[in-house]
Parts: sequence; structure tokens; C-alpha cells
Amino acid sequence: MAEFKEAPANAPAAVKLLNWVDNRFPASKMYKEHLSEYYAPKNFNFWYFFGSLALLVLVIQIVTGIFLVMHYKPDASLAFASVEYIMRDVPWGWLVRYMHSTGASAFFVVVYLHMFRGLIYGSYRKPRELVWVFGCAIFLALMAEAFMGYLLPWGQMSFWGAQVIVNLFAAVPFVGPDLALLIRGDYVVSDATLNRFFSFHVIAVPLVLIGLVVAHIIALHEVGSNNPDGVEIKEKKDAKGRPLDGIPFHPYYTVHDVLGVSGFLMCFTAVVFFAPELGGYFLEYNNFIPADALKTPLHIAPVWYFTPFYSMLRATTDVMINVLSVIVGLSAVLVFLKGKLPGKAKLAVLVGAVVAVGLLKTFDAKFWGVVVMGGAVVLLFFLPWLDKSPVKSIRYRPTWHKALYGVFVVFFVVLGYLGIQPPSDIGTLIAQIGTLFYFGFFLLMPVWTQLGEFKPVPDRVTFSAH
Ligand code: HEM
Repeated sequence: MAEFKEAPANAPAAVKLLNWVDNRFPASKMYKEHLSEYYAPKNFNFWYFFGSLALLVLVIQIVTGIFLVMHYKPDASLAFASVEYIMRDVPWGWLVRYMHSTGASAFFVVVYLHMFRGLIYGSYRKPRELVWVFGCAIFLALMAEAFMGYLLPWGQMSFWGAQVIVNLFAAVPFVGPDLALLIRGDYVVSDATLNRFFSFHVIAVPLVLIGLVVAHIIALHEVGSNNPDGVEIKEKKDAKGRPLDGIPFHPYYTVHDVLGVSGFLMCFTAVVFFAPELGGYFLEYNNFIPADALKTPLHIAPVWYFTPFYSMLRATTDVMINVLSVIVGLSAVLVFLKGKLPGKAKLAVLVGAVVAVGLLKTFDAKFWGVVVMGGAVVLLFFLPWLDKSPVKSIRYRPTWHKALYGVFVVFFVVLGYLGIQPPSDIGTLIAQIGTLFYFGFFLLMPVWTQLGEFKPVPDRVTFSAH
């Protein structure tokens, strides 16, 4: 136990109170460690707004969620009407509801940009692997949270979207049908499903999310922030042990973040007040029709933030499985003939490839579609160990690496767009190329990230006062 410290007898009451608290709870210590004496690199740029913005959106979602729950009814026969009641009769209910629905999309906009920043500046590399892994777990939890939340208004898209996604679980070999039954709590999406999704959406997943966000920030503050140069500021310290290129988070970045928050709130309120449905992208038009188990909408598409992954699922057709089998086979033959591995390892690669092709052919394309969709997210967890580039930041990488990241972004956006559209032959072909690119980009990282001419990384961060 730390020793009790006495405040001077003539100290102001507030100082005495803080001293009393500090003797029992590390309030000042935490304030120093995480704010006034947390040294962040002085060269943060626009991309560093999105962490604090994600925190802001999390708070918006929790607060508006609490008010929605006061009037929402988690009952299949009342849910739709209770949302309409919130929109029409509850004072400011429309604002709370539109803030929550817009907040869901804003969360993904902010988090996708936040993740992209990590990608281009190599923020997931040693020693920040756990920061990234916690981040990926947050992303998974966020997807679950959004998916379950979307069922609650009990509109046509809520109902049929959930029907499509829960049925995917039925494609898992052996346990699939039982798993889908467990998730639904019934043979079809029903009142039981609504109740369990409500319970997960309002308490279970938010608790996990908050826990993960705390872990994410503790892990970050343990190792310190990365920056656009990918230079470790802790390696150059002054006589007092403070990083030469670091500035206290408070007040410098708290004030800096006010700028980000202002810009964000302008966009956020513009959507909430003038275009809350955002052309059907934030709230789909079909969701203003009550759920009807007897009327399937002509076109069922998930909300935009799921569509890049949904596109990958739809791209996994029988033809795609054949292409994948050929790729696995050819790669194994290439390793066997040209690889610098011992004989036994080469043989193992060949046997592994035969097993993989056997499995690809045994289970149907729908199952592999689910594996591809899930795999696309799970793969992100391994990024810290896939990227072998000698430098962290994109700034010091060969120009063609930058181009590759550009193509990656284009494909990701195109996959997202295609996932919203009804399936077409050309769309499926493009989605297949995009899916192969996505997986190739990550799985071949150990090879391509080491290739090319790297620029020298400076000793200190580059910064010009503005
Ligand atoms: C609710 C969601 C999230 C919240 C509230 C959140 C919060 C934060 C905050 C406040 C920071 C420090 C400020 C900054 O660097 O921008 C940060 C850093 C970071 N986050 Fe997140 N984050 C979230 C999701 C994610 C996700 C999904 C990932 C990746 C999969 C991720 C990866 C990172 C990384 C790598 C850093 C360190 C960046 C650096 O030092 O360059 N975060 N996060």
C-alpha cells in the first residue's frame, strides 16, 4: 500500500479533497499517465483524429441507446410500432433515433478510416501487435453489435437480412443446422430471435466492446503511439526521460482533437438533420415496411458496411472454388520445384495441397463462401506477423507499394458497391477478382513487403509547425 500523503493545512478545500481521493484511488496518477504526462509524437496528422472520434461515437451510441430502450418494445408484435412511436410521439424521439441509426454508420466510417491509418503507417507492427489485435476484436464485436441492432426495428430488411445471415451458419458442416437453430431460438427468425438479439445488443456486446476499448487504450499507452513516420519516439529522450519528439497529450492533443470533433459533428449533424436515410444507405427504404414472413423483398442487401465482405461471400461460386483449387495446386507444385525447403517439407506442402483441394471439393461453395467472408476478417488479426517490410510507414516504402495500397482501397470500395447491387455475371466476376486480390494482398505480404527500394527512415520525426 502506498503511503498516505498529507495536504498542507492551508491548502484550498479542492486540493485537500483531491489529496483525500488520491490516498484512496489513483486519480492524479491516472490523469498524469494517460493525459498530462502521456507523451504522444508531435507529428500526428489528420489520420490521428479517428481514434478519439471512435470513442465519441461509442459514447453517442450508448447514450442514445439508453434513451431508445426507454420506449422500445422487444416484442415481434410491438417492436415496429414502438419505433414509429419513438419517431412521432416521444419528445425528441426522432432525434435520438436518427442519431443512433446515423451513429451506427458513422462508427464504421470512422473505424474503417482508423484501421486504414494503422495499415498505411504500420501501426500494428512490434511493439503494437496487441493494440491491433484488440482493435480487430473490437471490429468483430462492432459487426455483431450492428447486425443484431438492425433486427430490432422489425422492418422487412431487419427480418430478411437476419434470415439470410443466420441461414449462412447452417452451411457449417455437421453442426450448421443446430447452430442456426441456437442463434434463432426457433426454426425461423421470430419473437425468440428478437428477444435474444435485443439482450445481446443492449447489454452483452456493449460490455464486451467497452472492455475491449479499455484494453485497446491501455495496450496503446503501455507502448506509446506510432506516428506517420513510423519512428519510435521513445528511442530519443531528454535528460528527464521525456521523448524529444513527444508532447503531452493534454493539452496539445485534447485541443487538436476538438478540431476533429468539430469537423465530424458538422458531417454527422448534416446527415441526422437533412438526410438521415442517406439515400437508403444508412436506413434502407424496405425497413420502413413492417416485417412480413410471407413476403420476401425482391432484393435483400445488408447495410453498406457489411457489403465488402458480403460480396466476397457471393463471389465464392463453384467456378471460384475450381480457380482456388488450381491456385492451391499450382502454388504447391511451384514450391516443390523451385522452393528452398528441405525435401520433407516440400512433400508436406504437396500433401497439404492435396488435402486442401480435397476439402475444397468435398464441401459446397456456400460453406466456403462463409469461410471466405469470415476469413477476410480473421486474416486481419495476423497482419502484424504477415508484414515483413523493413520500414513501418508507407512514406518510406517503394512507390509501387503505395500503388498496391491504392488498388487495395479501390477493390475494397468496389466490393462494397457490388455487395449492395443485385448479383450479375460481370459483377460476380469483378467481385471474384477483388476477393482474390484481397486475400493475395494479405497472404503474400511476407513476400512482397520485403521487395523494392526502401527510402531511409529519419532518426527523428519530420515535423513543420503550422
Ligand atoms: C470502438 C472502436 C475503437 C476505438 C474507440 C478506438 C480508440 C483508439 C484510440 C483513442 C486510439 C489512440 C488515438 C489514435 O491513434 O487515433 C487508438 C489507436 C489505435 N487503434 Fe483504435 N479504436 C477502435 C477500433 C480500432 C480497430 C477496429 C483497430 C484495428 C483493427 C484499431 C487499431 C488501432 C491502432 C493500431 C492504434 C495505434 C495507432 C498508432 O499509434 O499509430 N482500433 N484507438
